[in-house]
Amino acid sequence: MEAARPTVEFDHHAPEFTIDPVRPYAELRAECPVAWTESYGGHWVTTRYEDIARIARDDATFSSARGDVDGIAFVIPESKALPQYPIELDPPESTPYRELINPLLSRSAVDALVPMIAKHVTEVIDGFIEDGSADLVHQLTNPVPTAVTLDWLGFPREDWKRLAGPIHDLFAAIPGSERERRGGEALGFMGDRIFQLMNDRRAEPTSDAISWLVRQVKPSGEPFTDDELGSVIFLLIAGGVDTTTSLTGSTLVHLAQHPEDRERLIREPALLDVATEEFLRKFAPSQSMARTIMKDTTIGACPVMRGERVLIPWIAANHDPEVFPEPEKVVLDRDPRGHLSFGIGTHRCAGAHLARAMFREMITQVLERLPDYTLDPVGATPTESWGNQSGWDAIPVTFTPGRKRGIPATKTTTGLDVQLLTIAAVEPIADGVVSLRLVGDGQLPGWEPGAHLDLILPSGKVRQYSLCGDPADTSSYRVAVLHEPAGRGGSAEVHETLAPGVTVRVRGPKNHFPLVDAERYLFVAGGIGITPISAMVRAADARGADWTLLYGGRTRASMAFAGRLKEQYGDRVQLVPQDEFGHPDLAAAFTAAKPGTKVYCCGPEGLLTAVEQTVGGLELHVERFTGGGAERIPAIPADARSFEVTLARAGRTLTVPDDRTLLEAIRDVVPGVPYDCEEGYCGSCETRVLAGQAEHRDSILSAAERADGSTMMICVSRCASDRLTLDL
Ligand code: FES
Repeated sequence: MEAARPTVEFDHHAPEFTIDPVRPYAELRAECPVAWTESYGGHWVTTRYEDIARIARDDATFSSARGDVDGIAFVIPESKALPQYPIELDPPESTPYRELINPLLSRSAVDALVPMIAKHVTEVIDGFIEDGSADLVHQLTNPVPTAVTLDWLGFPREDWKRLAGPIHDLFAAIPGSERERRGGEALGFMGDRIFQLMNDRRAEPTSDAISWLVRQVKPSGEPFTDDELGSVIFLLIAGGVDTTTSLTGSTLVHLAQHPEDRERLIREPALLDVATEEFLRKFAPSQSMARTIMKDTTIGACPVMRGERVLIPWIAANHDPEVFPEPEKVVLDRDPRGHLSFGIGTHRCAGAHLARAMFREMITQVLERLPDYTLDPVGATPTESWGNQSGWDAIPVTFTPGRKRGIPATKTTTGLDVQLLTIAAVEPIADGVVSLRLVGDGQLPGWEPGAHLDLILPSGKVRQYSLCGDPADTSSYRVAVLHEPAGRGGSAEVHETLAPGVTVRVRGPKNHFPLVDAERYLFVAGGIGITPISAMVRAADARGADWTLLYGGRTRASMAFAGRLKEQYGDRVQLVPQDEFGHPDLAAAFTAAKPGTKVYCCGPEGLLTAVEQTVGGLELHVERFTGGGAERIPAIPADARSFEVTLARAGRTLTVPDDRTLLEAIRDVVPGVPYDCEEGYCGSCETRVLAGQAEHRDSILSAAERADGSTMMICVSRCASDRLTLDL
């Protein structure tokens, strides 16, 4: 077997990985996507998205236990003790540590930190804004994540400055260098401080994260030891600080070098929501991890053996052209969901929400306060790192001096914040469909075609509706809602209670269905799925693109915007009322489409399935609705039924009603259960199924994994049997 190995010379610690980590992986993917290298005692290198995601999710076959890639003795932990950092353990040994930190880093917990994050960014930028020049690493991207993380944990202010530089040194250090010595010294100081703070907070608790951590116990009721808590706290610092420094630095350099992207983000600040994921995909601050192979198996078609190590480079997965077309380009409004910069599986980054919140606040304030910053290309210095992290050591810039803001009492700029809007008009626009116009106190955040709002209805139900007005109109938002008498009550509540003058809480706009640039589009809409498509049609036409729309509905009178679209765009629009013409002829439309046409489709599941089966080689972008309904609800199908779930470790059995997700019901009992996207694509909520059969509705599990039935995504999937038993 040794002789047949596809062996290459490959060193992921080589200096070129500092400058351009993408190219060597791309070359290797083209030459040999699963390759053996003798570097660092010998290990496999994978480069395809599919292989990397599979390895990261299969911890029974690919253990997180540390091996000998970096010259460290190979260990497969067999005891129940904590032989390594929690990130180097597999479930169930890693589970108590993960469950310890999840509640601290949930989306709602991080939302509560946003004003504190904004305060730190404001304070740091106030420190140099009047100077007209700064080094954005030393004066922004390094001190902010350090101060936020240490402040949140409970470190005293004097430590923030003391540790900021050395934390960066720690991850940038070449072995044997002066930086490594400085980083090591800081590590010693940090360790002492962590233990001191744990003791102090046990004696006198405050509201910081360490005070909370030292009060927690294991599921068995035993307290965590100081060594265990110390490891967890160290990882919270190590995992969150310098990766955010790196991502923010790379993005600031990109925006300096691509003024068109910078201008677009200044013009359309709401775009930062989806663009954040694209920057994460492109710059993947933590380049790779490694796993130890626990049994003989294959990767792709390549046989690999127990005890060997395998490198799983997130940055290579994020640049796999099979998954992300033209991966080398930053496309602000592409749909980069599924990037692996936070990993996937058991060790997906618990701090993803916190990292995003810090990143967004830093970028937002730079674009607001230093909009004309210019990079000194000579002084800009990439991090010379032996680790697996890319980033910058110096980003010198000049800009028009600005004024200090002073420390705000509160400030929120994540784009996910709740705003109170007033219904300005309700207008029937088709059978069973009303259009709502919502206004605020002044200008509203901008949006792009494909974006939606979360409406928090008076009953507390949250429903998503695509924006269908004109993005140029920043004085109001417009959504259209179909009344579904057999639905789960959201559309009925909208129709029955939302009248002019009523105020409603709104989150967003958010955009998971962006319109990418293209010369030709074929839009396909079914029923109320016309809402995002109508905004796309307007944008495509304004761009001078070659486009057509195929729009089906039950009857002509039920098809919102049909008359206006036909009148405005003539033969480009083909209306297909089912009672007159039957179903749209998708095959004919796709056959007639020229190569390079991008297909955008929104509508009921039946239409989407038909489109997916007939679209052939055309690039397809879809937005899923349930059963032709008005609500953009990937989480709960229209025909959902209630079921029982037993949480084995919590010892509780719950009823999941037909109008709640499994995740929502579980969070009542296990508030720290991890989740992120809530749409079945990120893998954060993957949970082991101990008994029962899941009804899978995610976009991660393969057909074989669904058939195996041992895990499920609890944010969108439900129960196909009478009850489920989960490993929670
Ligand atoms: Fe993302 Fe469930 S939270 S897959």
